[in-house]
Amino acid sequence: MTQVRLENVTKIFPIEGRGLVSIREFLGDKAGIKALDRVNLLIRHGETMGLIGPTACGKTTLLRVIAGLIAPDEGAVYFDGQDVTRMPPRERNIGMVFQSYALYPHLTSLENLAFPFVVQQRGEEIPERVRVTSQIMGLGFDKLLGRLPRTLSVGEKQRVAVGRCIIREPRVFLFDEPLSNLDAKLRVQTRVEIKKLLRRFRITSIYTTHDQTEAIALAERLAVMNEGRIEQVGTHAEIYNWPVNVFVAGFVGTPAMNFFQGRVEDGGLRFADFSLPFLPRLKSRLRPGQEVILGIRPEHIAIGAEGPLRARVEEIQPWVTERAQIIHARLPPVPPNFGGPGGNICVVRTGAEVTLRPGDSVWLRFDEERLHFFDAQTGKRLR
Ligand SMILES: Nc1ncnc2c1ncn2[C@@H]1O[C@H](COP(=O)(O)OP(=O)(O)OP(=O)(O)O)[C@@H](O)[C@H]1O
Ligand SMILES: [Mg+2]
Repeated sequence: MTQVRLENVTKIFPIEGRGLVSIREFLGDKAGIKALDRVNLLIRHGETMGLIGPTACGKTTLLRVIAGLIAPDEGAVYFDGQDVTRMPPRERNIGMVFQSYALYPHLTSLENLAFPFVVQQRGEEIPERVRVTSQIMGLGFDKLLGRLPRTLSVGEKQRVAVGRCIIREPRVFLFDEPLSNLDAKLRVQTRVEIKKLLRRFRITSIYTTHDQTEAIALAERLAVMNEGRIEQVGTHAEIYNWPVNVFVAGFVGTPAMNFFQGRVEDGGLRFADFSLPFLPRLKSRLRPGQEVILGIRPEHIAIGAEGPLRARVEEIQPWVTERAQIIHARLPPVPPNFGGPGGNICVVRTGAEVTLRPGDSVWLRFDEERLHFFDAQTGKRLR
């Protein structure tokens, strides 16, 4: 098992081009792309870390730095305390599975698996290693061995790509959205397979995906990235219950958290759509005039025949697999003398049994224990 630690890792991709037109004239010093911005991250021995974040936030770049495929401009990478920042990729003993499986197209699955051993003239190890790998990869894997990649389905290619990593007994496993090409059913099946593998071997792994459900299912802890920075690291429950800033709050959770911007005024918080009295636990943190953002998740809003907040149902989406439905409710516009315009949409999750129609008038009640507050300027959590 291996512990992986990133310390202050920064990567700025230079602008390439022929110099025909100067990009700096358009963008100035912003011309370089800061893909990683002082990243600090510890992946523990045998842990699976899920790396999530929007497109272009730097996930793949981070994996490539760990694999040694690109060198960081600043900072260092440690495996078990040893600085490997300048170590070439082939000495790092990393298994990497990409979205495009990158199998050698002219070699059979067996040859793909065996290739590194042939190159290193360790051919005598091949039969035993292939046998063990097939066993690990489970039912039907041996039937794929004689086939060329182009004759395999996407899911089968994916299995061969994982097998090709396993056979080398890597110190660290890097998965870069390996399931994103699969259909929904195969995705869940393969996810289970990968999870079993990871549990069984406890190989230190980092797994990137756009799909939160997948990350939660596979990873023990999550790291949420945004614009090259790690915003928060923790278990899903920690991040879900205690997001450290607005970005994380809005990124983790489906459907996304509702946000309302308001201001501290005497006696409480005034939002465009409603007011709230001061919550005791928050009061000492606020100053008059401060702009705040209130966050509330759709699943923490109750719909009833009465309540503090009136709204009109605009749209209803059934969420069959969850036996739930997602309601888009519009809060009423507020007269100008009460701070208007208001009229924001509030997304609410209810059970499937609730019967509502567009146009229905409903009352909303926010679960007070589940309110999140952030500073509107910094986006940071207030309590
Ligand atoms: N070789 C490169 N040269 C220049 N810019 C690059 C290079 N590789 C990545 N980038 C840029 O660095 C940023 C981070 O890219 P990266 O591929 O790490 O994002 P990502 O989080 O993996 O995104 P996705 O979810 O779409 O895969 C992007 O703005 C990307 O355009
Ligand atoms: Mg990527």
